[in-house]
Amino acid sequence: MRIKKENSVEVIAKISAVKAAIEKQKSSGKSIGFVPTMGFLHEGHLSLVRESLRRTGYTVVSIFVNPTQFGPKEDLQEYPRNLEKDMAFLEELGVDLVFIPDTLEMYPEGFKTYVEVTDLQDNFEGRSRPGHFRGVCTVVLKFFEIINPDVAYFGQKDAQQSVIIKKMVGDLNLDVEIQVLPTVREKDGLALSSRNVYLTKDQRKAASILVNCLRKAKNMVEAGEKDPYVITKEMTRMIGRQTLADLDYIAIVDVGNFEPLDKIKKEALIAVAVYFGKVRLIDNMIVQSKE
Ligand code: PAJ
Repeated sequence: MRIKKENSVEVIAKISAVKAAIEKQKSSGKSIGFVPTMGFLHEGHLSLVRESLRRTGYTVVSIFVNPTQFGPKEDLQEYPRNLEKDMAFLEELGVDLVFIPDTLEMYPEGFKTYVEVTDLQDNFEGRSRPGHFRGVCTVVLKFFEIINPDVAYFGQKDAQQSVIIKKMVGDLNLDVEIQVLPTVREKDGLALSSRNVYLTKDQRKAASILVNCLRKAKNMVEAGEKDPYVITKEMTRMIGRQTLADLDYIAIVDVGNFEPLDKIKKEALIAVAVYFGKVRLIDNMIVQSKE
């Protein structure tokens, strides 16, 4: 059992101070766990933090709304923030260090270097949000360099992001283990997301269509359906019946590399993105064929 360490969390804004704090922990033999976030924390984020607290000796959480992963027409300015509540959650859990840099600390004047995971960054989320994964990879690589974690925790909710981060870590021989944890959901199955607060009451009700069409797809695969076209057609039909929902994409892909599948063999990842007005929600499920 971990003893609650109220108010003992260290909050740091400067890269040099984070490096020094972590160096100290490393030299005393502690393993470092890292959970990158954009704040406005919910149970999804906290499930990652809890796992890090269980598995590592020193847990670092970053809170940074990363401008380079937002497109010019996206919701950077409106992205929800509540630092006070975030800190209350993290103190309660007993996190060791919270890194809250400002934009200039991460991207000083004249910043020019970006990291891209080619091809993988262009499909699905990447197609709907050009430049998004370039921003994600760049900031995550910077965090890895600053924090030097032994393990970093990501959510299955952002499945393509997790696959891309793993690829970057492999390709660049980074010495960090990537753990991907299951999606935390509301009672009706809606995946927790910072963006859910923007849904109107009616949109919120309608939003369960994401998990419902994924569950339907899962049942179809388990009942022997192997054709992605047939599954996509049924999911499209379900979403089409929901008047408040506008389908962005459905992806039926290989779990390991996000390549679209012609035929479902043992396992597939099914992902979906849907607009409710201006709010765009994503979700996914890994499905297993029984045969
Ligand atoms: P953010 O959207 O704040 O999410 C931080 C982490 O929480 C991600 O790994 C995400 O997959 C995970 N997460 C979000 N909702 C979840 C849920 N319902 N269940 C489980 N995990 C969930 O993802 C980002 O921030 C950024 O792109 C970041 C990696 C921090 C880089 O800026």
